[in-house]
Amino acid sequence: MHADLLIRNVQLATLESASAADAYGTIRKGALAVSGARISWLGPEQDLPASISAAREIDGEGGCLTPGLIDCHTHLVYAGNRVAEFEQRLQGASYEEIARAGGGILATVAATREATEDQLLAASLPRLDELLAAGLTTVEVKSGYGLNLACERKMLRVARQMEKVRPVRVVTTFLGAHTLPPEFAGRPDEYLDLVIAELLPVLHTESLIDAVDAFCETIGFSPAQTRRLFAAAQRLGLPVKLHAEQLSDQGGAALVADFRGLSADHLEWLSPAGIEALARAGTVAVLLPGASYFLRQSKRPPISELRAAGVPMAVATDCNPGTSPLTSLPLAMNMACTLFGLTPAEALAGTTRHAARALGILDQTGTLTVGKEAHLALWAINQPAELAYHLGYRPLRLRVFGGKVTHVSSA
Ligand code: NIG
Ligand code: FE
Repeated sequence: MHADLLIRNVQLATLESASAADAYGTIRKGALAVSGARISWLGPEQDLPASISAAREIDGEGGCLTPGLIDCHTHLVYAGNRVAEFEQRLQGASYEEIARAGGGILATVAATREATEDQLLAASLPRLDELLAAGLTTVEVKSGYGLNLACERKMLRVARQMEKVRPVRVVTTFLGAHTLPPEFAGRPDEYLDLVIAELLPVLHTESLIDAVDAFCETIGFSPAQTRRLFAAAQRLGLPVKLHAEQLSDQGGAALVADFRGLSADHLEWLSPAGIEALARAGTVAVLLPGASYFLRQSKRPPISELRAAGVPMAVATDCNPGTSPLTSLPLAMNMACTLFGLTPAEALAGTTRHAARALGILDQTGTLTVGKEAHLALWAINQPAELAYHLGYRPLRLRVFGGKVTHVSSA
């Protein structure tokens, strides 16, 4: 058997066949082989086929090997920042008040509309690089700061472009229904007509959309409007997901579950009926502790109820300039534990296996499984729980994307 890459002397956290006793799917003293872009063998090192030969061999020195991390909810393509708003909120203004006064998301829309495609890419790459340096191999990126055809297209093209200039997989989400653009003030249904009749089908034809999202909230779009958008997405065969129950209970989780959506995200105000709907539909609950922290929300998502109902929970950064200027997935994992009460094992499943499921790509990545893409992270740590422990320190030793070693540090 020939492999292109063989990593030996590692503790594998496969995230497969988790049990109560071992939520990581651990293989101690393990090895993993890569052929081409895929995982071709893994198991205890002592079971390695004697016939194996590898073009390159790496001694993991007893560290942990995990699937590459997946950030399944970001708005990382944007221009400018919202530091002035941060200061206003520290003085007591609320996120909703700032939004109603024409700031908030609209401030970023103005800056993003101004930027050229090149400027937008240049502004966004440093954020992506931060995520990569902490073990990321797949990232979801939303539009939603353009809110017209040209500018939504520009954002999505930049997101796709990132895949060409960095070793990363980008999954795009169309968030044209993020907020009402100023030129449609007072006419939300007319804006939605435009989104449904023009933006969505055109950008879909240009292969720029992998899924469709909306902000279902008093300062966003109503459940009825969201439903109308989702029906249009469904007609095009596009999967849906939703910013749901972030600031109030709009019944968004049940709505997205109705469409067998990929995920319901935020969920601070999630109701028991919403939990049941998610469980029934198999829709992933995406937890965004960075936004909860940054908005200083006291309301928490109902974690123990979600756990009891068997709803898969993902964890993401929500990287955006208004509610979560966060570019570290391990820090999001830490916050998911300290603020929301996840276990470190749940936090890791939330940024690998369940994040892949939230993007509809669990058949390709998110676990260490023979046949899947070789997107891996090798960490200089002895126990996987350490991934949710550090506040800033990065024990990443090596990142593998599509079978290629793309990052080596001295850790
Ligand atoms: O996920 N809440 C809506 N969307 C983003 C915030 C976007 C912004 O404030 O720029 C969120 O929190
Ligand atoms: Fe978001």
